[in-house]
Amino acid sequence: QNLTELLRAMPKAELHIHIEGSLEPELIFEMARRNGVAIPYASVEDLRKAYAFTNLQSFLDIYYAGASVLLKEQDFHDMAWAYLLRAKADNVIRAEIFFDPQTHTARGVSMETVINGLHRACTNAKSQLGIDAELILCFLRHLSEEEAFDTLEQALPYRDKFIGVGLDSSEVGHPPEKFARVFAKCRQQGLHLVAHAGEEGPPAYVWSALDVLKVERIDHGVQSVKDPALVQRLAKDRIPLTVCPLSNLKLCVFPTLKEHNIRQLLDAGLCATLNSDDPAYFGGYMNDNFVQTFEATGLTKAHAYRLAKNSFEGSFADDAKKREYV
Ligand code: ADE
Ligand code: ZN
Repeated sequence: QNLTELLRAMPKAELHIHIEGSLEPELIFEMARRNGVAIPYASVEDLRKAYAFTNLQSFLDIYYAGASVLLKEQDFHDMAWAYLLRAKADNVIRAEIFFDPQTHTARGVSMETVINGLHRACTNAKSQLGIDAELILCFLRHLSEEEAFDTLEQALPYRDKFIGVGLDSSEVGHPPEKFARVFAKCRQQGLHLVAHAGEEGPPAYVWSALDVLKVERIDHGVQSVKDPALVQRLAKDRIPLTVCPLSNLKLCVFPTLKEHNIRQLLDAGLCATLNSDDPAYFGGYMNDNFVQTFEATGLTKAHAYRLAKNSFEGSFADDAKKREYV
């Protein structure tokens, strides 16, 4: 079996996927039509042409605009189902899926609509696709602590439909500390905790995600290599990093895929994983990330097995499930 075949065929977990970032232009146009929402693009091609990003913020502006076509429970279901079918094709057997409720509640869509639509797709994925799919609610860090508390309150009636919380959106200027009290409350609720840190932001944000928010995983974390003491800490505590190479390439975090530091992270003994982040915007789902990253950086078969193992170890599956996966 050659390396590319192995990468495609091996069972894996995806731990860093924003469901709104899986909304393909075709689905944006279909939902805009069926919901009567106006979008400032003439065609699918016209919209795709706008996907030329220079940094995180330039992407987020267009990503939030794309999500504006989502109104009904069926829309949330259909978006998640389309992702889960793609994940199945890439031999993803577990997916821990981020969603951004504030993007929708700010437009008058109810929390119930968002969560029930997404959760129905996750339930069907278990029975129809054999994928264990779980939801992680993300707070938008460019919004206030108070807005995050309001969002948590709205979501707690659906506590049994998501397994954890995360922190995403514009990183620089919005350090983890801003959400210390929100995360403390989530911890009391027994929710799993993750946060984006060290995507564009400094190692200090990774330290405070760990020590102030007490997160169990770091999303991205690629800037950690700038601080050797931090790399040691991540290794010692086996803190998973959910790395997204094609995202980092498209958002100019690394100038080329060849210069990505995934090999350095793995060879330092970190629990790094590969993920797609926002596949509809960054030009690739899970297996595209694996195949292109391996080609560009010269990762080996041993790295492939390591990445698959790390994805299950880093997941929030219970121990019995983890044994079943490997
Ligand atoms: N929301 C969706 N994708 C994101 C990313 N890569 N970083 C921060 N927030 C996001
Ligand atoms: Zn992300």
